[in-house]
Amino acid sequence: MKSTISVGITGMGSSIPDKVVTNDDLSKIVDTSDEWIRTRSGIRERRIVDENTATSDLCTEAAKKALIDANVNAKDIDLIIVATVTADMAFPSTACIVQKNIEATNAAAFDMSVGCSGFLYGVATGANFIKAGVYKKVLVIGAEVLSKILDWEDRSTCVLFGDGAGACILEECNDGYGILSYDLGADGKSGHLLTQPAGGSRMPASHKTIDERLHYVHMEGKEVFKSAVRVMESTSLQALKKANMELEDIDFLIPHQANERIIKSAAKRLKISDDRVYMNLDKYGNMSSASIPIALDEAYRNGLIKKGDILLLVAFGAGFTWASVILKWEK
Ligand code: ACO
Repeated sequence: MKSTISVGITGMGSSIPDKVVTNDDLSKIVDTSDEWIRTRSGIRERRIVDENTATSDLCTEAAKKALIDANVNAKDIDLIIVATVTADMAFPSTACIVQKNIEATNAAAFDMSVGCSGFLYGVATGANFIKAGVYKKVLVIGAEVLSKILDWEDRSTCVLFGDGAGACILEECNDGYGILSYDLGADGKSGHLLTQPAGGSRMPASHKTIDERLHYVHMEGKEVFKSAVRVMESTSLQALKKANMELEDIDFLIPHQANERIIKSAAKRLKISDDRVYMNLDKYGNMSSASIPIALDEAYRNGLIKKGDILLLVAFGAGFTWASVILKWEK
């Protein structure tokens, strides 16, 4: 039976490390330049955690802000989903660490490994628990400390990423608002183009894997670029179709913040004008699963999006995975 429960975002929060690393800073450690990074990616600077900070610390700060924004008590949270590829450790899950930190003692908790599409996969999953009548309040977090898995000797990857966390609270909302549709997808055949090869059961940590720098991000940038533009368009069109909407109905596109050229190409294919596209990657770089919730939180707190606006959130990432969500904003 089709659920009659509408689910929306009732609170948002983010956590962004204080330390700013500029392109000029990076040009002192690898053979690169501000000009190369800006023109190829649009990134000017990124935020990086200190050595004592882990993903769960950023999650905890973002979650506490989202709870305040939604006016929800942590004890009333039924489920915590953390989307991340940089969990504190293999187990326990980062979601369980967050559950302890915020004292959400009544919540179930699990992590999702979906790369940059993780936050949107989390939102779709959390919303379905509410629609099914199983849970009432779900905390979804997208969080990454990518700086700790980057090869700071590889100029083709280390200049692109940053650290951060964004969180939202999902609850039942007024009819016609909230999540209108979503589209999720994956293409495991292309997974090898973006990996952290070692540290799992295929290639456990050893002196050899460390010597061969296999615990870092490995990426075929050009191939990722081409797929990204294609799937951002196709998944957006799928979500629109499911919502029975046209491109003209979209007030704002809030895309995954990987590369300005990818975003502009996708927006052009979707015929969405620049003034309706939210971008903040110049300040933060690519924060993987944290990019979309942080962009959404910023756009909301800066008063850019208002009640009734139709938002298209769209991401692609490691896996490969992709996801899009159409949301009628109610806050
Ligand atoms: N500084 C200077 N030169 C560099 C740098 C750098 N930081 N990095 C690479 N180069 C060099 C390369 O070595 C190459 O030199 P060569 O021609 O002598 O071999 C040259 O620049 C051109 O490299 P390309 O890879 O062709 O550059 P391209 O225009 O494709 O841009 C980039 C590279 C920015 C990585 C682009 O391919 C890209 O953004 N790809 C998508 C990446 C992405 O979005 N990843 C994340 C997606 S999923 C997720 O978010 C986890």
